Amino acid sequence: MFKLAHISDIHLGPLPQLTFRELASKRITGYVNWHRNRRKHLFANALDLIVDDIGRHEPDHLAITGDLVNLASGIELRTAAQWLKDTGGPLDTSLVPGNHDAYVPGAHDKAMAAWYDYVRGDDDPAIFDLKHKLFPYIRRRGPVALIGCSTSQATPPFSAGGYFSARQARETVELLKKAGDEGLFRVVMIHHPPIRGAAPSHKRMMGIRRFAATMSTGGAELVLHGHTHLNTINWLQTHGRALPVVGIASASQAPGATKPAAAYNLFSISGGPGKWHLGLERHALTPAGTAITIAHRQVLMG
Ligand SMILES: [Fe+2]
Ligand SMILES: [Fe+2]
Repeated sequence: MFKLAHISDIHLGPLPQLTFRELASKRITGYVNWHRNRRKHLFANALDLIVDDIGRHEPDHLAITGDLVNLASGIELRTAAQWLKDTGGPLDTSLVPGNHDAYVPGAHDKAMAAWYDYVRGDDDPAIFDLKHKLFPYIRRRGPVALIGCSTSQATPPFSAGGYFSARQARETVELLKKAGDEGLFRVVMIHHPPIRGAAPSHKRMMGIRRFAATMSTGGAELVLHGHTHLNTINWLQTHGRALPVVGIASASQAPGATKPAAAYNLFSISGGPGKWHLGLERHALTPAGTAITIAHRQVLMG
């Protein structure tokens, strides 16, 4: 049995104001460490509880569906890189970017350079190369193929919208077909919900129909997304089969807000082609914000 954990919308920060002098003094590494320690030792916050609980369940892999940061400033990107390192090794953690990771012009490429080991497909170059198209990527882990798509490219600055391009659609179909031929359980990761009406119109993804056609033609077993900060299970009707599309609350959300408290999905994947079994357990922060409990259990397949 393969255990896959899913978190999203970490939104690390907010960060205190730094003066130009502080930034110019190049004490950024120290600042990153300070921020990290402060988070670790002074606040037992939602994110720490979520990450600790995931660790206790010893998943085989962790999928993160974007919005690691808020404003995508250089300091945030470095802080997030350090957070990734502290949370899981790059071979066991796969990431796709969200709109906040490309918040200002140029941020997307800087973010991908800083987090490259986590978005690097099996066949990608060892060193980050701007000329190389990162998405979609494929990572094979045991019986699972993780296919990472990006909706955070080609969106205007400060926009919360997303875009799933025709090129990505074509290449995703190829990867899905290949992984299907290899008998792998195909997990597609994408930040924006590829479901009509799931996000308000100014935050939605362009290319929802194209994404659905991609899933139909290529075939997939599970789609994971973030962006809405909601715990949702939708179904995409592909050729003769219903494909589960699963979203999750922000991993940093404290209880008592309008959006649901921090949670993560823990999937169990077993069986094989034609007879896959997919179980879902959603673990969420309690209303008191002091512990994590199982909030939902469902068999999605098999
Ligand atoms: Fe978000
Ligand atoms: Fe988002």
